Amino acid sequence: MKLPPTARFSTVCIHAGQEPDPSTGAIITPIYQTSTYVQDELGRHKGYEYARTQNPTRAALERNIAAIEAGAGAFAFASGMAAIGALATLLQSGDHVVVTDNTYGGTYRLFERVLTRYGLSFSYVDTSRLELVRDAIRPATRMLFLETPTNPVMRLTDIAAASALAHERGVKVVVDNTFASPCLQRPLELGADYVVHSTTKYLNGHSDSVGGIVVVRRDEDLEWLRFIQNGEGAILSPFDSWLVLRGTKTLALRMAQHNVNGLALAEFLATHPAVKSVLYPGLPSHPQHDLAKRQMRGFGGMLSFDVGTFENARRVCNRVKLMALAESLGGVETLVCHPASMTHASVPPEQRAAIGLTDSLVRISSGVEDPQDLIDDLAQALAG
Ligand SMILES: Cc1ncc(COP(=O)(O)O)c(C=O)c1O
Repeated sequence: MKLPPTARFSTVCIHAGQEPDPSTGAIITPIYQTSTYVQDELGRHKGYEYARTQNPTRAALERNIAAIEAGAGAFAFASGMAAIGALATLLQSGDHVVVTDNTYGGTYRLFERVLTRYGLSFSYVDTSRLELVRDAIRPATRMLFLETPTNPVMRLTDIAAASALAHERGVKVVVDNTFASPCLQRPLELGADYVVHSTTKYLNGHSDSVGGIVVVRRDEDLEWLRFIQNGEGAILSPFDSWLVLRGTKTLALRMAQHNVNGLALAEFLATHPAVKSVLYPGLPSHPQHDLAKRQMRGFGGMLSFDVGTFENARRVCNRVKLMALAESLGGVETLVCHPASMTHASVPPEQRAAIGLTDSLVRISSGVEDPQDLIDDLAQALAG
């Protein structure tokens, strides 16, 4: 089994980083559930000493996702937040970071409630407007932290243009690629320096694991992130590594259906009389539809819609039957949530208002069920 250098995306997802197990030939990388490794003699071992530092299952996942994102290496962590925390160790006290204003609520909480205590500062701007990014960069700015599309208002940032602007000023670019997945968007190829994912979402895809991963563009970052993985110790477990490896094998297949279902639901909602507006980059009415077509290969399964009042939003969330009311996203089953009171409750109300995150907004993570069943469920939830 040898992956040709010309292998295309779905082939890379299935095969990259995984050799048949050397001791048995098992085609699937085993779960190496061990805390330590027996050494041959003092000073001689097989490359594995202690399982926080090295684990073959985790290493296979890291090679796999590095190849999927076209990076120099990848580092798996215990959650998406642990991965973002690891990236923050690239900064030093006094450094400043420009952040997409509509970033994930947990990222905002980490930056504002934890990292400001260590002398870091953050400015939150609408990174879809490059002039605002340009104005926000100061002499102390070291990092531009982008999320695109944003959660839940689905605003896009032009990764190539923002990276070019940041690099002119010596600023490194991170893209949280959780929402799009590498199947739809490849930030390192567009100029970003680092990609971060909550693997909890599309990469694992089955709502049964929490994890995160950092992918780096350059060899020079490998040593520090490996050191941090071992030094802070927030590593992904062997079992979770195995689950995510199983997930990435079907990433391309799943994303194809997420694209179909996302568009089907967005088109249905766009014509429904009870719906005020629909936010989905695949609709021609989306203000950044052209950028989405250029930057993404498919528009994904995430969409939000406004039903006018909080009471209406509450009714839709409580009435869906096939769809489940739950936080999280990116799984095979469709979820609905009310961002203002669930995923984004930690974002202050005035900041939510500034980014257009209203109390009447409902978010859908469309799964891979038959799209007509999802439409039927939404139709009955919106009826009356
Ligand atoms: C865009 C985004 N980034 C990061 C995270 C954090 O990931 P985790 O929940 O795995 O810590 C989330 C979680 O919802 C997310 O949606």
